[in-house]
Amino acid sequence: MVQINLPENSKVQKGEYYKDITGSKNIRKVNIYRWDPSSGENPRIDTYEVDMDNCPSKVLDLLNKIKNEIDPSLAYRRSCSHGVCGSCAMNMDGKNGLACTKPHAEINGDINIYPLPHLKVKKDLIGDLSTLYKQYESIEPWLKTNTKIESKEIFQSKEDRSKLDGAYECIMCACCSTACPSYWWNGDKYLGPAVLLQAYRWIIDSRDDERKERLQKVADELKLYRCHTIMNCTNACPKGLNPAKAIAEIKKMLATG
Ligand code: SF4
Ligand code: SF4
Ligand code: FES
Repeated sequence: MVQINLPENSKVQKGEYYKDITGSKNIRKVNIYRWDPSSGENPRIDTYEVDMDNCPSKVLDLLNKIKNEIDPSLAYRRSCSHGVCGSCAMNMDGKNGLACTKPHAEINGDINIYPLPHLKVKKDLIGDLSTLYKQYESIEPWLKTNTKIESKEIFQSKEDRSKLDGAYECIMCACCSTACPSYWWNGDKYLGPAVLLQAYRWIIDSRDDERKERLQKVADELKLYRCHTIMNCTNACPKGLNPAKAIAEIKKMLATG
């Protein structure tokens, strides 16, 4: 039987243990993936004992508390703190989500926090999303119209506008793409659910004049048809969107012309 091992320098080791110094009776253990490329050391899991009596409700609050009060070297992304910017996406308790909307009370036992899966890691909880952003750029996510746009608004009927529901709300957090096994193995070629949902959003926009060209652009064995409808993406979306359905709709449009 073939045995596959991680390279020695990728093996995750046991890290620092930060014991509570507040004397609180309400302590939770938080295990966090740490890796600093400039250190030359292996990744490790650091454990922090956190006083939960003085911690607001979300996982991001927990991380902020650790960074502000225990270990300022911890690196993670965040901006809006309200589930709008997508920057705090990470893997919590084995599931991708937004740290700013995920209540830590929903996690039983120790709280395990990792970067989004299958991305190269830049540092600690910060995944490298540059490939995903290039793929996003490749679908040209802006309105393309033959009409000369001057100062006039381009009208859209209420019905046409409602077709964008379930697509325009996407915040490009990448929780779906990094939960998709096809994207894990072919992330450089397969566009993945986040980018395909965005492609769909522009294909169905009644104001856009390049529907055909957009469809042709994604009609590719590797860019689109690597989706095997496993549905991990839809289960992972913290905004309750359904990228798997959008991908199926693109396939249907291509099949029916
Ligand atoms: S449905 Fe398609 S995009 Fe979604 S997880 Fe499965 S293979 Fe990936
Ligand atoms: S579909 Fe959902 S999970 Fe995927 S990028 Fe958009 S908001 Fe994030
Ligand atoms: S910080 Fe903006 S979505 Fe979490």
